[in-house]
Amino acid sequence: MAKKQRLDKIIAMQGALSRSDVKILIRKGAVTVNGQVVKNADFGVDMDNDLVAVQGKEISLEQHIYLMLHKPKGVVSATEDKNLPTVVDLVPKELWRKGLFPAGRLDKDTTGFVLITDDGDFAHDILSPKKHISKTYHALVNGTITEEMEKGFEKGVVIGEDLTLPASLKKISSEPQGDWGEVILREGMYHQIKRMFGAYGLKVLELKRVKMGKLDLDPNLAQGQCRKLSKEEIALVKCREMPSSTEEKE
Ligand code: URA
Repeated sequence: MAKKQRLDKIIAMQGALSRSDVKILIRKGAVTVNGQVVKNADFGVDMDNDLVAVQGKEISLEQHIYLMLHKPKGVVSATEDKNLPTVVDLVPKELWRKGLFPAGRLDKDTTGFVLITDDGDFAHDILSPKKHISKTYHALVNGTITEEMEKGFEKGVVIGEDLTLPASLKKISSEPQGDWGEVILREGMYHQIKRMFGAYGLKVLELKRVKMGKLDLDPNLAQGQCRKLSKEEIALVKCREMPSSTEEKE
């Protein structure tokens, strides 16, 4: 049987109300569980099966929250910063809860998909190179993406003291400034894509994360916007997707 949790805690966990506001509402009789008014803040609720309503409005009970943010440039992937806005600052009030953090970092000048959550285990799973969860990027570089580079990415690229895991690189288009390539990684070393192209003498001019696992960045999400992920979308993030030639033996 599912473990029961305190009524005031699970309502406050949904983010819109503080614990003390919730306690006041409960005392006033404004909260029901399965249609019955409950006036004890410590009443035990089964989050999987009970229906909780506040002032007549049913609330969804979720242990954790998972958000897709379309990160703009100039925003840092952190929870706090002295000078610059953070990805967590972009979460609207109605989706905000305590403990939110970005599951993985993008550089300040990188745009695209950032997953924000309060679920540490989930973040660990999707970031661990052992789990093979791919992250897909589009990069514009100041030159030509060659077949030799594509093959080199497949073998792993030496950056500084390290050798990256096998990655995928495919040229997707050309512009007067240089080529666009799709890069698929399953690890997140510091400035990894910039340093991988740097090893071939190229500079990254634009970088955007377009996919995590098998979940694409929502094309309807404008830069700076954020929305909740559905259960199905969360499952897609956890799907492995690497071309077979870049799979490691387990
Ligand atoms: N690689 C980079 O160089 N920067 C990012 O933001 C992500 C991957």
